[in-house]
Amino acid sequence: MPTLSPIELFTPRLKLRWMDERDVDAHYAVFADPEVARYWSSGPWTSLDQSREHIAATQAAYADGSGMRLGVELIDTGELIGNVSLHRFVDTSRRCEMGYALARAHWGGGYVSEALRALLAYGFTTLDLNRIEADVDPRNGASARVLEKLGFHKEGYMPERWIVQGEPADTVYYGLLRRHWNG
Ligand SMILES: CC(C)(COP(=O)(O)OP(=O)(O)OC[C@H]1O[C@@H](n2cnc3c(N)ncnc32)[C@H](O)[C@@H]1OP(=O)(O)O)[C@@H](O)C(=O)NCCC(=O)NCCS
Repeated sequence: MPTLSPIELFTPRLKLRWMDERDVDAHYAVFADPEVARYWSSGPWTSLDQSREHIAATQAAYADGSGMRLGVELIDTGELIGNVSLHRFVDTSRRCEMGYALARAHWGGGYVSEALRALLAYGFTTLDLNRIEADVDPRNGASARVLEKLGFHKEGYMPERWIVQGEPADTVYYGLLRRHWNG
């Protein structure tokens, strides 16, 4: 596992930072939205406790180095509008997976692409990763577009990899190698 330390990353409009108890309500609002959770096997959240538990798990992952979920905060207002993550590190192969979600009110503004550019730079330089992967539902056009804009390559297709809210759902697998990263 890489050594993780409490970081803040800045982009022109965003601060990416470690998450804590102050984020419970805003984090809940992101994942309680059925549109945000549409392609997630767990479905939309229905209780603030789910947000509390998820933030506690996020903090445990900071402590044991197994994952780094960063809150995405608007610099202008201080509002937490989503999160991005690097997780499932495989140290011996210097790779991990990447995740992201944004409150629906802010979709389409380029925020996630902006946040992920900073996260990729951190992953490929400070964490010295060689490869970052992402797993996307083929119906999730916005997510695929975000990855393609960042230079990820479509590498594989896995039918019925997940059961999403009772229905089998396929995966398109994306990857970005450090030597193909144009950051
Ligand atoms: C995926 C998600 C983070 C994208 O957020 P966003 O704020 O819209 O992202 P951006 O504005 O940075 O970029 C979105 C791009 O997708 C495009 N897009 C939006 N909807 C699309 C669709 N249905 N099909 C294809 N492209 C689409 C946008 O036009 C934009 O591309 P452009 O910059 O070339 O115009 C957001 O939709 C989300 O939180 N979804 C729910 C959680 C989720 O699915 N996470 C990913 C799991 S793999």
